[in-house]
Parts: sequence; structure tokens; C-alpha cells
Amino acid sequence: MEIRVFTTSEELSRAAAQRVADALRQRPDIVLGLPAGRTPVGVYAELARLSSTGQADFSRATAFALDEFVGIDHAHPASFHRFIREHLIDHVGLPFERFHGLNGAADDLQLECDRYEAAIQRAGGIGLQLLGIGGNGHIGFNEPANELPARTHRVTLLDQTRKASAALFDGDVARVPREALTIGVGTILMADVVILLAAGENKAVSVERMVRGPMTPQLPASFLQAHRVVEVYLDRPAASRL
Ligand code: GLP
Repeated sequence: MEIRVFTTSEELSRAAAQRVADALRQRPDIVLGLPAGRTPVGVYAELARLSSTGQADFSRATAFALDEFVGIDHAHPASFHRFIREHLIDHVGLPFERFHGLNGAADDLQLECDRYEAAIQRAGGIGLQLLGIGGNGHIGFNEPANELPARTHRVTLLDQTRKASAALFDGDVARVPREALTIGVGTILMADVVILLAAGENKAVSVERMVRGPMTPQLPASFLQAHRVVEVYLDRPAASRL
């Protein structure tokens, strides 16, 4: 893993956005995998700025959202698809029909997962996968478990993750869905390049285990050690245990 540590999260965001803009220049029709969450917000804002000043061209790109809560459609205020659209897609001229998301409110969730996985494969797989990391080492909603399904699947959320997501539901953890849909670790590992972003001291332990620990489904991010091109962008608190 290539690890880059930045003094502030603003510097981290600028560098990561520049990295994405470079990837777009090298391959204008790149397929992006995109996370929601607090961590990428600064990166998306910087990408919007780069796009508005002609330094990042998303017009030929495709994007897939990484995960979504079960029971949540794309119009819901807590939707990750909506979050990514509002923070990035609406500002960078990526044609909306090429921005894909999981429908957590689909009648048949297994069919929805299969449809999504097939759409990713039809697009040629993910070229650049941006990721955050959970305080428990999850990537996407691939929670620590004895086994990790490789492909897009339905998952039961752990209490810690539901608590960390409460802000999206007016701080009411009881309203956080108990399940989610997520791209699997196998699909993530098939991406050409993975860029993982982590900021804040509450990520330091999972970052340390991701980088130094054994590969274990109990720390899903540890599987990134098996990928050839992983770039890890950290602020100092997130890197404090390395
Ligand atoms: C969330 C999402 C992930 C995200 C991670 C970190 O629950 N499922 O896709 O990367 O947890 O979120 P944050 O950036 O808000 O800390």
C-alpha cells in the first residue's frame, strides 16, 4: 500500500481530488466507484471546484455508488445515492444516466444486487474505487464477519455502524435501517486502482489493522493488502498509530 499522510484534512481532500482529476485526464471514460460519508465531502467539493475551472472533466465518466441502506430509495434524505448526487454529480457534469446506485427500496433485493453487479461488469468493472473506512474496519457496508460475500449483497449492520449513521436519521439510531446493500470486497478488489481516505483519530485503529494486521474478514479493509494498487490518504490523527 502506498500511504500518504497530510497535515490537515483540507490538504488530504485537495490531493485526493487532484488524483481523481489526473485519472480522468488519463482515461476520460473511467468508471468511478464512489462512497458517501463525511470523509469524501471535502474531496467532492474540491472536485466540483476543479470541474468548474475546467481542470476535471467528468463528461465521459461513469459512476457507481458503493452502498445504500435497505428500505431507502434515491429520494430519501439519507440515501447515499442522493448524497453523492448532491455533493458531486450535480456539480461536475457527469451525465445523470451514467450515475448508478443501489435501490434499497427495491421489491426484490437479491435481484437488485444481481442487477447492480451485472451493471458494474457490463461497464467493464470499476477503474478507480474511492473508499472511506468504518471505525470497525468496514469498507462500503462490508461489516466484520466470519465470511465476506465477494459480490454485491445484502448485509446486516452492526450496532456500532448504526450508531455512527444516526446523524443521517436526525440522530435517532432507532430509525437507522438494520440492513444495507453493498458492493462486495471481491468487486472492490477487481478495481484497477483503490484510493482509501481516512481522517480523524477514531479511524486510527482500523487504519493500523488495515495496513499492518493479518488479512481477516473481521477487518474487511485488511483485504486491500491483496490489491496491487492501493493508495491510502490519511490525515495525521488517522495515521497516528502507524
Ligand atoms: C459508512 C459507509 C461507508 C463509509 C464509512 C465511513 O457507514 N457505509 O461507505 O465509507 O461508513 O464513513 P465516514 O466517512 O462518515 O466516517
